[in-house]
Amino acid sequence: MKSIKANILEAIGHTPIVRLNKVAKNLPVEILVKCEFMNPGGSIKDRIGRHICQKAMERGELKPGGVIVEATSGNTGMGIALFAAVHGCQAIFVMSDKQSREKIDLLKSTGSIVVICPSSVDSKHPDSYHSVAHKLAKEIPGAYYADQYENEDNYLSHYYSTGPEIWEQTEGDFDFFAAGVGTGGTISGTSKFFKEKSTRIKSLGIDPEGSILLPYSKTKKMGEGAPYLVEGIGQDYLPGNVKFDLIDFFANVNDQQSFSMTRRLLKEEGIFCGGSCGAAVAGTINFVNENPTLTQGKRFVVILPDSGARYLSKLYNKTWLKEKGMDVGVENETLTLRVKEISGTNARIEI
Ligand SMILES: Cc1ncc(COP(=O)(O)O)c(C=O)c1O
Repeated sequence: MKSIKANILEAIGHTPIVRLNKVAKNLPVEILVKCEFMNPGGSIKDRIGRHICQKAMERGELKPGGVIVEATSGNTGMGIALFAAVHGCQAIFVMSDKQSREKIDLLKSTGSIVVICPSSVDSKHPDSYHSVAHKLAKEIPGAYYADQYENEDNYLSHYYSTGPEIWEQTEGDFDFFAAGVGTGGTISGTSKFFKEKSTRIKSLGIDPEGSILLPYSKTKKMGEGAPYLVEGIGQDYLPGNVKFDLIDFFANVNDQQSFSMTRRLLKEEGIFCGGSCGAAVAGTINFVNENPTLTQGKRFVVILPDSGARYLSKLYNKTWLKEKGMDVGVENETLTLRVKEISGTNARIEI
């Protein structure tokens, strides 16, 4: 019975690393992707949900059957929900209204209480999802605030799990590690591990246009954020888990690049993942194109944080993309026309 897991939390991690073949075909680099959407809760955040709550229980800050509060774009909520299910806890998740319907419905279906806050206010505003989560955690007796943005157990969970796993899978034979930056936990914790192992590996944070993280890394001045569509990455403030001293480079990516790459990953590589995954790959390619001498012949490991199932109503929906002013590709026009002719007048072809 050696391969039987005691509970679902033990099934977290050990996700595969896969080579990109077609989307990276004309590049002078090799791109490997770590498929974190294959975690049981569908994202990399299962790792931090488990680690943060486990550590809080060890310290006595969270009791079995207790209440966990978290501000989440959805994935950390799911990771915490797995822990809550196993340990009989009640979770309360505070989200912004920018997050997809799928993520909200998913968290509701775990038996958690879900609070939705406006995305039109900045993180300091009392109505922001950060402020509301903080208030709930303070005022509900015995509640534990997981606080993925400031809690160091977030980045340490990647130091203890994601980093060692990638090192083992690749035998340390790669040059760049790239990840989108949201709370900063993934890039900071994993980079800390690699830097202790090798001076060869450099880390690359991917930041969406509109976020202040990349401009801050260059100027050390707080700029103004602007809205963007990709979920889970970028910030309008500096979370404690973004450890700038551990991140060697930042690269920029825009929504159009993020969404078209996410769709190409599915169509050309068979990898069904979320918008921040396309952003991480497209941002990496931007970096390669902008730094040809530095990157020539190098091997990249890029994190794909979550599953495409959470974005069927958004970036996988052509009507939504069109509404947002994004270019949408036309599938094989000649064949589509032929299918239309053959299938008859009462049949409808969905776009
Ligand atoms: C979909 C998605 N991608 C990427 C990230 C960024 O990871 P991190 O918070 O570790 O920086 C997040 C974080 O919420 C996310 O939800």
